[in-house]
Amino acid sequence: MTAILVTNIGELTTNVASGGDPCGTRTDAAVLIDGARIAWVGPAASAPGASGAAVVDAGGRAVIPGFVDSHTHLVFGGDRAAEFAARMAGQPYAAGGIRTTVAATRAAGDEELRQRLAGFVTELHAQGTTTFEVKTGYGLTVHDEARLARLAAEVTGEVTFLGAHVVPAEYAERRGDYVDLVCGPMLDACAPHARWVDVFCETGAFTPEESRRVLEAGIRRGLAPRVHGNQLGAGGGVRLAVALGAASVDHCTYLADEDVAALAGSDTVATLLPGVEFSTRQPYPDARRLIDAGATVGIASDCNPGSSFTSSMPLMIALAVREMRMTVPEAVWAATAGGARALRRDDVGALAAGMRADLVILDAPSRTHLAYRPGVPLVAAVYKDGVPLPV
Ligand code: NIG
Ligand code: FE
Repeated sequence: MTAILVTNIGELTTNVASGGDPCGTRTDAAVLIDGARIAWVGPAASAPGASGAAVVDAGGRAVIPGFVDSHTHLVFGGDRAAEFAARMAGQPYAAGGIRTTVAATRAAGDEELRQRLAGFVTELHAQGTTTFEVKTGYGLTVHDEARLARLAAEVTGEVTFLGAHVVPAEYAERRGDYVDLVCGPMLDACAPHARWVDVFCETGAFTPEESRRVLEAGIRRGLAPRVHGNQLGAGGGVRLAVALGAASVDHCTYLADEDVAALAGSDTVATLLPGVEFSTRQPYPDARRLIDAGATVGIASDCNPGSSFTSSMPLMIALAVREMRMTVPEAVWAATAGGARALRRDDVGALAAGMRADLVILDAPSRTHLAYRPGVPLVAAVYKDGVPLPV
């Protein structure tokens, strides 16, 4: 195992809370990596002399934990550029566009999907994302959902079964039968590849009652719940997620006071997906309201071909700060530690001895530049499990 000493770090975001700073910010710091884990974090001046350690001089730049993108849909065929262009010309976003991607995904072979997915993984890594979740949800047959779950499991341990994304066209007149399929044979085929079960609880997708059935079936099968909810209107998604102890409820764009109170009194992360509001021209969720109420807020890309075709966590941070009234430290925390909480992971999202050696050296003196210089690639180096990735 190689040891690497990353030293001369001008600003280090550890996310180990100290003195009222949730980001645990250190200046003039160093990080010692031993194999796949962090061995030591502290002042550069007192870094332990690890004999044989390779020394990486950060040159006074900022270092942050690798981004944890807790919400993506990266296994799909085709794209929806025409739908996006029509939307920008005035068409509203509706979940029905998902069926276009379902048709393209069913028509794509495994190798095509695998190569596309590999391309996205390279794209994520190059932008500083070191942990990511991937959902199924564009297959919607037993065979296609199982192959999407299997392909996703080739690139991440965080696979989510989302057979309940929308009711596919062939079941439009018998939605109860589709929910039975999701809760039975489809779940059986996908569960061996998945850790999570998700449902799109929204008008036009699944009702709170249908959603509860799907999530409870997943829980019985050993999967842990997460929910897409309150994206297009106030509905029962948030309250269902909290009632079932879901790790995260994602979107949270339209919230009633009781939704905010339920989140604040729970361990369920409110994961906000500002790429969706950017790409669908919807109002942004009010992160300030959630944080001030005491809820835990994460941010994620929701990278998918319909509502947010971007994998850029730096862009999410810029949008969170500019459009959702988050401070820079809150947004950086939400994109790293918040994502880790949303995936119930205690080995990523922070830089401390024993954690995975997943970190990003920014081409900037502070993390503030992630929001201050939107659209500018600021990732100078990425380490995942102690191994440098191509950037
Ligand atoms: O998270 N909300 C549901 N699913 C995706 C959209 C998928 C699509 O439009 O293809 C989302 O926004
Ligand atoms: Fe999504």
